[in-house]
Amino acid sequence: MQNSAAAEIVFDAATKTYDGSAEPALDALSLTVPAGEICVLLGASGCGKTTALTLVNRLTELTSGDIRIGDRSIRDQDVIELRRGIGYVIQQAGLFPHLTIDENVATVPQVLGWKKPRIAERVRELLELVGLPHKEYGHRYPSQLSGGQRQRVGIARALAADPPIMLMDEPFGALDPVTREHVQDEFLRLQEQVGKTTLFVSHDIDEAVRMADRVAILAKGGKLLQYDTPERILRAPADDYVARFVGADRGLKALTLRTLGDLKLEPATEETAEAAVLRTGDTLRTALSALMAGAAERLAVADGDGKTVGSVTVDLIREAA
Ligand SMILES: Nc1ncnc2c1ncn2[C@@H]1O[C@H](COP(=O)(O)OP(=O)(O)OP(=O)(O)O)[C@@H](O)[C@H]1O
Ligand SMILES: [Mg+2]
Repeated sequence: MQNSAAAEIVFDAATKTYDGSAEPALDALSLTVPAGEICVLLGASGCGKTTALTLVNRLTELTSGDIRIGDRSIRDQDVIELRRGIGYVIQQAGLFPHLTIDENVATVPQVLGWKKPRIAERVRELLELVGLPHKEYGHRYPSQLSGGQRQRVGIARALAADPPIMLMDEPFGALDPVTREHVQDEFLRLQEQVGKTTLFVSHDIDEAVRMADRVAILAKGGKLLQYDTPERILRAPADDYVARFVGADRGLKALTLRTLGDLKLEPATEETAEAAVLRTGDTLRTALSALMAGAAERLAVADGDGKTVGSVTVDLIREAA
């Protein structure tokens, strides 16, 4: 697949005060999203997440400060040119209801004047990538898809012109928890292939922990409280507000970030001789649940091929946490 180089995004004291407002919606936000990483903007309703996102593609104009993509200020670029380099996924996917799935995905390449065969090839490739084969889905209309499928078309559409940057505003907000996890996983798998620098808005800490390389926690007025890896946010929240926001069960959430493969396992013993239920790829949280569910002191752990490689206990998990 073609792949334009990902670019770093730099917010440099980016400030937005909407006309008629006394207070800024976003107050001197400074942060850098390294090329190819996913940054999740997390915070309560009204704290300026959407504002931060739309400043990047200039749907909203900066009041002061700057935003740079690569080394270029967005102020110095033609708006149309700028938006060509940015995929934008909004809540509810925002598909055109009167266009087929193929036509929806083809929107931007058409605007860019690509030749028909190139567009057709790109559409097929992308629908394949998001798990909706063109043959089966291309001719349908958005109303003939499930919510999760529409969401995936929204992602395919945003990726169509292979932009180095993706902006995603609560793209999975409307999905039920199971579909949501599924689409999140799919996006992460996709991201491994396409490596876009991604700004992803959420107000769900679990989603942030799952998706983010880094999480930016914003408070009202777009004040940046902490910008860190999910692990650091969970283990060392910067202040009480962040601690409350990430929740009382943050210790448990942190366990989802590491797998049994990350631990120095104890040897397997006779008590664990039966078939191992745990795999090295399982998270510490899964392991803890299994130990508690079976009231077991020790459970055997197998590698991906099912060969037992050691055992785990509650103590071992506690030490690692
Ligand atoms: N066009 C606008 N004109 C005036 N004020 C606005 C405008 N858009 C947003 N605001 C205000 O700016 C603040 C931040 O809004 P924003 O939409 O960025 O919040 P958000 O973090 O995305 O919230 P949510 O989680 O509810 O989507 C809010 O107080 C909002 O009322
Ligand atoms: Mg919003």
